[in-house]
Amino acid sequence: MATDSMCPQARFSYDMAMATSAITGDLSPTPPDAPFLAGRVALVTGAASGIGRACALAFAAAGAHVHVVDIAVDAAEAVAEEIGGTAHGTDLADPDAVDTLPARIDIVVNNAGLQHVAPIQEFPLERFTLIHKVMVEAPFRIMRRVLPHMYARNWGRIVNISSVHGLRASTFKSAYVSAKHALEGLSKVAALEGAPHGVTSNCVCPGYVRTPLIEGQIAAQAVAHGIPADDVVRDILLERTAIKRLIEPEEVAEAALYLCGPHARHVTGTSFVLDGGWTAH
Ligand SMILES: NC(=O)c1ccc[n+]([C@@H]2O[C@H](COP(=O)([O-])OP(=O)(O)OC[C@H]3O[C@@H](n4cnc5c(N)ncnc54)[C@H](O)[C@@H]3O)[C@@H](O)[C@H]2O)c1
Repeated sequence: MATDSMCPQARFSYDMAMATSAITGDLSPTPPDAPFLAGRVALVTGAASGIGRACALAFAAAGAHVHVVDIAVDAAEAVAEEIGGTAHGTDLADPDAVDTLPARIDIVVNNAGLQHVAPIQEFPLERFTLIHKVMVEAPFRIMRRVLPHMYARNWGRIVNISSVHGLRASTFKSAYVSAKHALEGLSKVAALEGAPHGVTSNCVCPGYVRTPLIEGQIAAQAVAHGIPADDVVRDILLERTAIKRLIEPEEVAEAALYLCGPHARHVTGTSFVLDGGWTAH
């Protein structure tokens, strides 16, 4: 806090910083070597595993306090303990539970997701509904809960972990593809509404990432096709991908972190595609 004992130059710098923060929502001055998210509070869903866990670790390393939200409560607590965050054992398919998550949040990473593979005519209705509740309704509920706080601070970052399936379709993934396309639309609306209030909203769209979600699919396809797991990755999963390797969760987390960083203030309403060239076709 400024005091009367400050020399004129220090007072000028302090006053300029405070005036700037009132306009941009930047935090009050922090030491020059502080990590860039020091003082920010982040909420990451599905943070007990895979991409969400990598995001939780990356955002904590950048200085944020992270709320680790996941239905897998033990794993969420382990992540929270590792990073000094706060765990929430929350089923995102339960609207009442979602509506009790913390509202004083500066950064949201809507990441939790699940997959079910079946042709449309055989797709179980309850799985379709569940996937949309977790991957569309929960992000919407979280946004409407945290936006008043972000607007009051004139700063907020929403990162929606979409997928190449937010931009392209594949057979047998009707619930997942339609949910990711809906998330893309929701993200754009949040970008337009949030812009006057210093809030950005973007999607990150990875191709196949090396996580438990995908390892399960690889194992299932290997059995279904009677071929080794490596062949499933190269010949089936990465068939349309120019770069023939899986993405690591940390690479997706870095993209999410960039969208919350000082050089991404003008980036909003868009999709950051990490698909190894899939959508270049
Ligand atoms: N792995 C990929 O290849 C890939 C590619 C593109 C996009 N994505 C997206 O990335 C996100 C994370 O996927 P991942 O690969 O890290 O998967 P993952 O299975 O490793 O992690 C997903 C997490 O979400 C949690 N979760 C699921 N249902 C939940 C619910 N009802 N309530 C609370 N938490 C719930 C799970 O417990 C798990 O911890 C998903 O939205 C997925 O669609 C993944």
